[in-house]
Amino acid sequence: MAEQTTWQDGAQRDLTLNVGDRLALFTRGEGAYVWDGDGRRYLDFLGGIAVVSLGHAHPVFVEAVSRQAATLAHVSNYFATQPQLDLAAQLKRLAGTGDDGRVYFGNSGAEANEAAFKLARLHGAASRNGGVERHRILALKDAFHGRTMGTLALTGKPYMQQPFEPMVPGVEFLDSTIEALEAAIDDRVAALFVEPIKGEAGVVDLPDGYLQAARELTAKHGALLIIDEIQTGAGRTGSWFAFQHAGITPDAITVAKGIGNGFPIGALITFGAAGELFYPGTHGSTFGGNALATAVAGAVLAEIERAGLVENAAARGAQVRAAIDAIASPLVEGCRGQGLLVGVALARPVAKAVVAAAQEHGLIVNAANDSTIRLAPALTIGDVEIDEFQDLFARALATVTDALLLDDTETKKDAQ
Ligand SMILES: Cc1ncc(COP(=O)(O)O)c(C=O)c1O
Repeated sequence: MAEQTTWQDGAQRDLTLNVGDRLALFTRGEGAYVWDGDGRRYLDFLGGIAVVSLGHAHPVFVEAVSRQAATLAHVSNYFATQPQLDLAAQLKRLAGTGDDGRVYFGNSGAEANEAAFKLARLHGAASRNGGVERHRILALKDAFHGRTMGTLALTGKPYMQQPFEPMVPGVEFLDSTIEALEAAIDDRVAALFVEPIKGEAGVVDLPDGYLQAARELTAKHGALLIIDEIQTGAGRTGSWFAFQHAGITPDAITVAKGIGNGFPIGALITFGAAGELFYPGTHGSTFGGNALATAVAGAVLAEIERAGLVENAAARGAQVRAAIDAIASPLVEGCRGQGLLVGVALARPVAKAVVAAAQEHGLIVNAANDSTIRLAPALTIGDVEIDEFQDLFARALATVTDALLLDDTETKKDAQ
């Protein structure tokens, strides 16, 4: 085995090249904080990209993993386990599916969306539509649904698709306007996929009334409305799921990330007749719905509910935005998103520099694109973490602003 000198050497030598250079090596976490290999503490305002909803090493999470691992981890889908049944019922209740909702379990967001894609195909099958096939699937430009071949085909980002063409066929991409949907939809559409806040695109909100119009138009044309709640779900936006702000009932939603607090799990939750589309043999996953993952997600959701963290996400989200406003940085144009999914719009394409400066100051945030900083901290954050965030973020912004001013001065000098 080759000798490893630094962790960077190990990463460069042994990991595949699908990810750029790792920004740090973290060794432990607690609450909203993580520590690197040198023992330096960072305030984590990314939360594993909207995953660590209870914070790191939360006692409820630790207890649930340990207890279920010591009891029963996995038995295959030939059998049921109580944690799996309990989580399905819990998700149905929180999503408000009513009695006829059904839940499919996978292990990630992409797997949940793969299941949803297959659900859409089944809905579009001629056998279900009096001999007429519904081949069209609509999705939104810039929305992100995953990186497997099916979910990549649903992802409205040509630069991500291009190296892997040809794509799974049948998906058409629309502008995120009600007019574009009205113009595109007809009776040959099997499903419309919507990301209620486009997280990966830079925390971009849908226009007001979009989800209501999407519900009306899909219902009118017999298409499924499938909402990707993978980044927005589990309380992050200040309701259990973002679609609930719009007061609509979709045909299906997909969830992952924040329901597991770091334990891999994803789920497709159907409402009404969409739950009758799968039949034995149409889909499955060896690990999906295992007792360990479902017990952990059940405990995570129960703790979010018990501790009032959905309400906390709404209140703390407003507080984080106010803190950012109070910094009054010339670099910040404003905030997008909802609850504790916040996109900080920058006046210049310097998001990577802000992320690097923040890390230098002991704060973890993310560049969702060149000019947006994404924040998705634990739903447990309070005054202490937000005050510290304000201080560290202000310092990071000042570092970058100073560097930009310096650059401008140099450019002016060179021009003279
Ligand atoms: C909205 C959305 N959908 C799907 C995915 C894919 O989830 P995963 O990375 O767990 O496969 C993500 C991940 O970032 C996401 O934000």
